Amino acid sequence: MHIAVVGCGYWGPNLARNLNSIPACKKVTCCDTDAKKLDRLRLRFPDNGFTTDYDKVLSDASVDGVVIATSVSTHFSLAMKAIASGKHVFVEKPMTASAKDAETLIAAAAKAGRSLMVGHTFLFSPPVIKIKECIRKGELGKIHYISATRVNLGIHQKDVSVIWDLAPHDFSILFDWMDETPSKIWAIGRDCIVKGIPDVAFVTMEFPSGTQAHLQLSWLAPSKLRRTAIVGSEKMLVYDDTENVEKVKIFDKGVHYKDPETYGEFQLSYRSGDIWSPRLDTYEPLQVEMESFLEAVRTGKVVKSGGETGLSVVKSLEAAEESLKNQGRMISIS
Ligand SMILES: NC(=O)c1ccc[n+]([C@@H]2O[C@H](COP(=O)([O-])OP(=O)(O)OC[C@H]3O[C@@H](n4cnc5c(N)ncnc54)[C@H](O)[C@@H]3O)[C@@H](O)[C@H]2O)c1
Repeated sequence: MHIAVVGCGYWGPNLARNLNSIPACKKVTCCDTDAKKLDRLRLRFPDNGFTTDYDKVLSDASVDGVVIATSVSTHFSLAMKAIASGKHVFVEKPMTASAKDAETLIAAAAKAGRSLMVGHTFLFSPPVIKIKECIRKGELGKIHYISATRVNLGIHQKDVSVIWDLAPHDFSILFDWMDETPSKIWAIGRDCIVKGIPDVAFVTMEFPSGTQAHLQLSWLAPSKLRRTAIVGSEKMLVYDDTENVEKVKIFDKGVHYKDPETYGEFQLSYRSGDIWSPRLDTYEPLQVEMESFLEAVRTGKVVKSGGETGLSVVKSLEAAEESLKNQGRMISIS
């Protein structure tokens, strides 16, 4: 297969590196309007193709699929052009800058019979997959709430808020774990450094099952924190993605409510048992993500992180951003 990586700034080279390591990918072409970005990649991958002209990529009949890693505002038009040229498409997160565009893109891919995948990389990561297994098996019981922190002194994006940059990760992870999407969302935030571009946000959501989740997102924090706590009726779990080992810890902790046997006070029994860390597979999620895209190109079937996943994330991003612009007003998501 011949895959073109379009957009070789910060993230695109990681996608190109992984594609270059997959035997089924016989050729990689790197495309960026900025020739300097290509010069750096030329040194690392001299056998790859290089071009500053996206139209050349699309008119090359040997290109089976395009991987789009450009800024968010360009995703929709580049992906639509690729589909119109008969290419399979992988587009980085967030899929598009609006839910309306995401719906149009999904419909265009379906009509053309092309695979459409979205770069929600965490759905391919071993801890996220392991936690999903625990939830599915009922190990944690009923999920009461989830609290996630994703902050660091990060790169301030020029065209999107911290919600559009960081929340796609947590939204895609939470929706996958919960197997549902939120019905209500609230967000507040501030543009501390660049006027008009919020760099800190606090997002709260409620799922139809009643589970609530809270995200703290920021590019303006003293240290890098990637910590999610899940509190279930049976057990509690902490996922710390900054840990090298023991990223996931399960706590046999909880509180049980006992109805009063006679008229009187209710009783609570507290449980504080073992803590353990499940064994996790070790592989680079991006490599598995790219293998999954190649499989989608080969078979025409997307098994994970397809257009609908991308759309559900974009809908929640839009709702969170609307709430933020309206001082935290509750926004319902259909
Ligand atoms: N999955 C992840 O974990 C992850 C991590 C980081 C970034 N991303 C996503 O990757 C995308 C790119 O982010 P980035 O930080 O690399 O941005 P970036 O600005 O560093 O790079 C974007 C590149 O696209 C090029 N470009 C723009 N328009 C183009 C066009 N029409 N044709 C060819 N090249 C074009 C620019 O010259 C630039 O080099 C974003 O959607 C971002 O959200 C995903």
